[in-house]
Amino acid sequence: MADLIYVLNGPNLNLLGTREPDIYGADTLDDIAGMLEDRARELGLEVEVRQSNHEGHLVDWLHEAQAEGARAVLLNAAAFTHTSVALLDAIKAIRTPVIEVHLSNPFARDEVRRHSLVADLALGIVAGFGPQSYLLGLRALAARLTDA
Ligand code: DQA
Repeated sequence: MADLIYVLNGPNLNLLGTREPDIYGADTLDDIAGMLEDRARELGLEVEVRQSNHEGHLVDWLHEAQAEGARAVLLNAAAFTHTSVALLDAIKAIRTPVIEVHLSNPFARDEVRRHSLVADLALGIVAGFGPQSYLLGLRALAARLTDA
């Protein structure tokens, strides 16, 4: 059976495609999910892609990722990256490794985005490459799982 990777997306990412396209690009989240599914197939992985505007859903899905035996989580926590102690605690509470992903490079943007609570616990971070950030994260995970 293919290794399962959860891809979790936080608030406002449901509006990708129309939301601040100069920063986040023209691809919708469905487009990105399609790219991830194609790449996952090539890499022999399976992805479960979800999005919520609600912090608690993301907490539940982090727990679920471990319970379902996912090998890792690609997490774009969006604005919760910078604010959520609940997500920080959820990542601490599971053993499933988390890779932090962003379309933009938040560390090069306004002050409020320059700190990530997720980063302290992340296995790695990929930011600033648009949808490629997700695909690069997936590729890095595939290499790691092959080495393991
Ligand atoms: C984001 C960056 C965050 O600062 C922002 O709140 C988002 C999207 C990104 O993917 O670039 O909603 O996570």
